[in-house]
Amino acid sequence: MRYLTVALAKGRLAELAMDIFISIGMDCSEMKEKSRKLIFTDEKNKMKFILVKASDVPTYVEYGAADIGIVGKDTLLEESRNLYEMVDLGFGKCRMCVCGRPELKGRLDEITNLKVASKYPNIARKYFQDEKGQTIDIIKLNGSVELGPLVGLSDVIVDIVETGATLRENGLDVLEVVCPLSARFVVNKVSMKMEKERIMDMVKAFMQKTEGSAE
Ligand code: PRP
Repeated sequence: MRYLTVALAKGRLAELAMDIFISIGMDCSEMKEKSRKLIFTDEKNKMKFILVKASDVPTYVEYGAADIGIVGKDTLLEESRNLYEMVDLGFGKCRMCVCGRPELKGRLDEITNLKVASKYPNIARKYFQDEKGQTIDIIKLNGSVELGPLVGLSDVIVDIVETGATLRENGLDVLEVVCPLSARFVVNKVSMKMEKERIMDMVKAFMQKTEGSAE
């Protein structure tokens, strides 16, 4: 039996996914210990777990360096990789939103060449240009995106809102909701053919464990 490799988005999603892998009988004890290691092996179940940056999970899975990935829908939408999205895990729930100063609510259509700062330029472009037919200027940022409207870099941002605390504490508001988000279980297309039984058993186990929590 060959090893199946799972790419986990480092951070909270990896922690939550690990708990599910443990509950379906995988040995993730090595991963639970705090360390700087990036690759872990469960010899008994012939599984490998790798910790990767969230935005790289779809890349590892598309190229087959990982058979399975656990990653947020935001990353999947932004990366548009060629893979199978199998299960909505129902955790890591949040929303992709257009945010800005509250006085802009309901007025975005009036602004020509709206300046949009985002870590998600593809999602932002698709939403404004394809769905709303509005021309925008995209400014790609890599974090602390909320600063955009505060320092006059952009009119609005397209970003993830979870509790809303970051917006509140910076005097910003949700202006429009782009889409709901949550963690997903994704699979490499060739792996799905070659290791169908093992992967589908895992998919079914994940579906049972997360039943009722998906959108
Ligand atoms: C994310 C997101 C928001 C914040 C939303 O940032 O980009 O800034 O969390 O969460 P909240 O609604 O619960 O406040 P992250 O923590 O990933 O840091 P970043 O600034 O580096 O993107």
